[in-house]
Amino acid sequence: MTAKKKYDLIVIGAGPGGYVAAIKAAQLGLSVACIDKDKELGGTCLRVGCIPSKALLESSELYREVNESFENHGIKSGKVTLDLPAMLDRKVKVVGQLTRGVAGLFKKNGITAYHGQARIVEPGRVEITAQGKKKERVEGDRILIATGSVSATLPGVDLDGDRVGTSTEALSYPEVPKHLVVIGAGYIGLELGSVWKRLGAKVTVLEFLDRILPGMDAEIAKEAYKVFRKQGIEFSLKTKVTGTTVKRSKVTIDCEGKDPIEADRVLVAVGRKPNTEDLGLEEVGIEVDNRGQIVVDDNFETGVKGIFAIGDVIRGPMLAHKAEDEGVACVEKMVTGYGHVNYDAIPGVAYTHPEIASVGKTEESLKEDGISYKKGIFPFMANGRALSLGDTEGKVKVLAHAQTDRILGVHIIGPRAGDLISEAVTAIEFGASSEDMGRLVHAHPTLSEALKEACLAAWDRPLNF
Ligand code: NAI
Repeated sequence: MTAKKKYDLIVIGAGPGGYVAAIKAAQLGLSVACIDKDKELGGTCLRVGCIPSKALLESSELYREVNESFENHGIKSGKVTLDLPAMLDRKVKVVGQLTRGVAGLFKKNGITAYHGQARIVEPGRVEITAQGKKKERVEGDRILIATGSVSATLPGVDLDGDRVGTSTEALSYPEVPKHLVVIGAGYIGLELGSVWKRLGAKVTVLEFLDRILPGMDAEIAKEAYKVFRKQGIEFSLKTKVTGTTVKRSKVTIDCEGKDPIEADRVLVAVGRKPNTEDLGLEEVGIEVDNRGQIVVDDNFETGVKGIFAIGDVIRGPMLAHKAEDEGVACVEKMVTGYGHVNYDAIPGVAYTHPEIASVGKTEESLKEDGISYKKGIFPFMANGRALSLGDTEGKVKVLAHAQTDRILGVHIIGPRAGDLISEAVTAIEFGASSEDMGRLVHAHPTLSEALKEACLAAWDRPLNF
């Protein structure tokens, strides 16, 4: 055991939740240590999640566009071929740039990074185990758990890390699968299913429910379903996978009451679960709920004084930006006494093509809560910028309170929906009405005018539709 060191705050996990919390804490004057079991900082999001998947989504979409859309713009290209190793290499470079960026930010802010598996021995004390190194102990006035989540699996489905794997493997298949079967029509399944479909794979998505993208506004999810099917992705809804069998390079997928399916690769994307293994939670008496999530109060503090948790390991959506904002709010509350996360204004984005983005209430949740609402819809087909981009699929849907006109939810499927949703987040955060948003000057011609028009449609009438 090497000599122990003492900090104001020990952050466990250097993903978007943990590393951002560490930076904010250092900016607020705390001495901070951040422990991660991986050598590269940035967590799942930067290393094997959001960032590499977006790099591949971008590359594969360009490949598709060259093959399918360039001619519409009057551009004739010769035969375009795929260099998959180069595409994967670019993804690795993008990831490397960002993870090195986090290391640079740690240095700039005087944060000490430790590499190894962290285990809380007792409040204020953490033990770090790294291969080939002596165990190390660090001490801190406070400990913040930000260990994120890991892929969930299914009974009967053995993740062999090759033919049957999670998103981690699907970010690095060495060849384009002939037939990729995706289990789960959520964010991961649809994003990575899109990547491999664009690169030439036959893609079949098996979904347990009778719809895709559970939790998203049903009308938008229905439209997404239509669009993805038009793109050639095959779906089998109401399909419960009961097991997989691997024989050499072939996988047989068994489904309840349906014929087995053959594939050469299977991506299991049935959700994620909190990553709390080997953290020492039980020993120190930290409570987890029946979903394995660490129970925290409004200050993100667990039942054990001085131990906090944020991000995917606690309640709420498993999203990088939710974890980031909780990280900031958590350390602000520690130091200044004030911190704030508005859980009604957390956007969600699927980076498919078209992108799908939403914030606030869905139509279903408003009905369920008995809230009377007005709805405004504007299609991208009627937006000049979308037409000039040649990207007119989709629409903006705005839900506003029937009496107060306050915007309660915005749901977009269409070009750059992930960027457009920020304006809707701002509107909800500042309590804007659909009239307010409809009266704002929006630059012309921009995609954002579709949001303005949908607000006008909710309030009164759209101008251009
Ligand atoms: P998800 O919860 O979004 O979707 C999982 C899907 O699997 C659901 O539709 C579910 O009904 C289905 N499913 C469950 N059991 C099944 C079974 N036995 N057979 C067939 N289907 C079954 O989970 P996903 O896509 O794995 O993503 C995990 C988390 O990561 C989510 O919380 C998501 O928010 C987050 N994420 C966010 C992204 C983004 O913001 N762009 C991208 C990727 C992930």
